[in-house]
Amino acid sequence: MHILSPPPALKTTPKLYEVVDHLIKRGWRPIGSGQTGTYVLGRPGRRGILKLGTFGVMNNFIAFLRANGPNVALPALFGATSPDHLWIGFYCERLQPMTHTQVAAWEEWIVGDWQANRGVAVTDPFGVAEMLGRLHKTAIATPGLGLDVCNPDNVMVRPGTCQLVFSDPFV
Ligand SMILES: Nc1ncnc2c1ncn2[C@@H]1O[C@H](COP(=O)(O)OP(=O)(O)OP(=O)(O)O)[C@@H](O)[C@H]1O
Ligand SMILES: [Mg+2]
Repeated sequence: MHILSPPPALKTTPKLYEVVDHLIKRGWRPIGSGQTGTYVLGRPGRRGILKLGTFGVMNNFIAFLRANGPNVALPALFGATSPDHLWIGFYCERLQPMTHTQVAAWEEWIVGDWQANRGVAVTDPFGVAEMLGRLHKTAIATPGLGLDVCNPDNVMVRPGTCQLVFSDPFV
């Protein structure tokens, strides 16, 4: 799976910002960014987005997607690569932010049920409890990895449905 191979114009292992610069010159547009230097890029009319960032946490998520997907509560992974193991990129389905109503309902459930019961859901109104359990187990079993699903920026919605998707669950 090497859809995101290094751009051909860059002959040596490219630095992340050079890759982003190169992609923007070729028509990709920034659609999001993260606190740890993550870039999210999209192209008008395309179903996929590119997420590029430093190796660590993102690599853990890609490994999780490969081991646990496809699944309704995970973004569809189309491809991934890491040319030099310093930065990493993956191409996945485009999602949309939760609405204010969804954010309120999510926060109520994740704190009031799931967290209150120490990582075991009594109810499952979003149909994600089983996958959340798997994410939780992986975070606990992996040194240095944590779960960041209370932040509503990290849980998105599949367009055309109300399905919540864990877009960025690890920290
Ligand atoms: N699959 C996606 N489709 C559309 N937009 C996305 C997708 N994934 C991420 N984004 C956008 O990019 C932003 C940053 O992405 P994400 O949360 O995955 O990065 P991050 O570096 O982990 O951020 P942080 O460290 O702040 O949690 C999101 O808030 C969202 O707006
Ligand atoms: Mg995030």
